[in-house]
Order: sequence, then C-alpha cells, then structure tokens
Amino acid sequence: MSHNLLKGKKGIIFGALDEKSIAWKTAIRCHEEGAELLLTNAPVAMRMGEIKKLAEAVNAPVVPCDVSSNEDVDKLMEEAMKHFGGGVDFILHSIGMSINVRKGLGYTDNNYEFTHKGFDISALSLHRVLASAMKHDAINEWGSVVALSYIAAQRVFPDYNDMADNKAVLESIARNFGYQYGVKKHVRVNTVSQSPTRTTAGSGVKGFDGFINYAEKMSPLGNASADDCANYCVTLFSDMTKMVTMQNLFHDGGFSFTGVTQAVIEQMEK
Ligand SMILES: NC(=O)c1ccc[n+]([C@@H]2O[C@H](COP(=O)([O-])OP(=O)(O)OC[C@H]3O[C@@H](n4cnc5c(N)ncnc54)[C@H](O)[C@@H]3O)[C@@H](O)[C@H]2O)c1
Repeated sequence: MSHNLLKGKKGIIFGALDEKSIAWKTAIRCHEEGAELLLTNAPVAMRMGEIKKLAEAVNAPVVPCDVSSNEDVDKLMEEAMKHFGGGVDFILHSIGMSINVRKGLGYTDNNYEFTHKGFDISALSLHRVLASAMKHDAINEWGSVVALSYIAAQRVFPDYNDMADNKAVLESIARNFGYQYGVKKHVRVNTVSQSPTRTTAGSGVKGFDGFINYAEKMSPLGNASADDCANYCVTLFSDMTKMVTMQNLFHDGGFSFTGVTQAVIEQMEK
C-alpha cells in the first residue's frame, strides 16, 4: 500500500545484492512510495546480475561503485547529479563486509590487512560517500542519509568479530558528519540498528541460527524483518522525520532495552 510519502523525491540506494538484501526491499518500498531511484553496488556484486531484475522493477539505472574507492564514489555522485539533473533527497548506505568473518578468523586472530579492508568498506565508506556528496553538493536541503548498523556496536556479540568495531565507527561517523551536514545544509544523517536478518551478509556470521533465534526470544515484538526495516527507512527519508538527525535508531522489536523475557527464563529453567 502506498501513501506517496516519497513523491517527488530522488534517492541513491547502495547495497542491493539479491532479493533478501535490506537495500533491495527498501528500493522496492521507496519506489512504491513515489521515489525516483539510482541503484549502485560493487562491480563484483553486479556481475552476479541479480540487480538488473531490481533495476527493471523500480525503473532505475545501475551505476557500479566500489565504496572503498574515492574515484568510484566521486564518479557515482557526478552520474547521479547528471541523471537527476541536480541533487538527491536521500541516500541508503546498506553495506557491510568482513574478510575476517568470511575466512573464519576469530576476533583475537584477526588479519589486519583484512581488518583494514573491512573497515574501509563497512565504516569509512559512509564518510567517503558523505564527503563526496558534500563536495559535489549532491544532497538537497533537508535531505536524509541512513546507514545500517547492528547492536554489536554497543554490546559484545563475540562472533560478530571486527564488524562490531566497524559498526561503532559507522555510528560515530553518522553523528559527527550529521552535525557538519546539518549545519551546512540541513541534511540529516542517522543509523538504523536492525535485528539479525537472514541475508547474505547476515548469514555469514558464525552461529547465525542461534543468534537470530535468541534475538527473537529476547524481543517483546520479535525480530524486525527486512520488510519492516524497509518501511522504517521510508519514514526516515520522508518529511515526517525531518528533525531527526545524528541518532542511532534501534529497529529491533525491543531487543536493545530488554533485560530478559519470560521465554528465555523458561528456557533456562529446563
Ligand atoms: N543481516 C543482518 O543480520 C543485519 C543486521 C543489522 C545490520 N545489518 C547491516 O545491513 C546492511 C546490509 O546488509 P544485508 O544484511 O542486507 O546483506 P547483503 O549481503 O544483502 O548486503 C551487503 C551489501 O554490501 C555490498 N558491498 C560489499 N562490499 C562492497 C563494496 N566494496 N562496495 C560497494 N558495496 C559493497 C554487497 O555487494 C551487498 O550488496 C549491512 O550494513 C549490514 O551490516 C545486517
């Protein structure tokens, strides 16, 4: 159901890999709410070809961009300005990658080259995107930028590995750049801290099944799905949340503020 919340707005969506991706679902919902979109992903992810299906569904061009490359990000901003004939109103940063996680190297055995690469892609990329957007004046007045995070930025989830550090920095960049962009052009920047979700990136974390089932039991509303997350992002891109900035917003069915639930107590008593 559409409420035309994004009618007349233009946006860039980073990170739609396949139908399970949070970015994929968000692109579909933004389109339904009347937004015009430009999609982007790393060249290697685009070779899988799935994104073409999404591009057709939401009638959007696809521009390759490796977010660890300054040149790629600058080119993307230029292409977006050219395509839309001006700036955009919103950007979704839905990107995460850890080679340490992928290779099964535990937190105390991290390979620092992998750590650097993962940090560059998962955290520093938000700074790079915002700095390039500012340089190109590519975000309109009262624009909105959302990046996806996870509660491992605040609490320890041992197998989340170096991604925990990446998310802590990502949230810090959203706060600090949110200040700068707010003062300069009323652009707001927030992170959404999402429940564990079955996607390619999510399922890569060791023990994911235990992780997601535990979160489900520890959340009074249950885990938030990728579709729920897409809806929440739509509200954050809309004018209805115009004065919200520099926040880390928990979108997790209440997990973050729950000490224990009856369901978990019952399990422990068995
Ligand atoms: N799935 C979860 O449990 C969960 C929970 C909280 C937060 N998040 C966050 O949500 C975001 C989206 O992840 P997802 O779960 O939809 O998984 P996903 O695997 O579908 O998306 C991750 C995306 O990052 C892209 N990416 C990786 N390296 C890149 C690069 N160099 N340049 C550009 N793009 C690159 C991938 O191609 C992919 O599209 C991530 O930030 C993730 O950490 C996920």
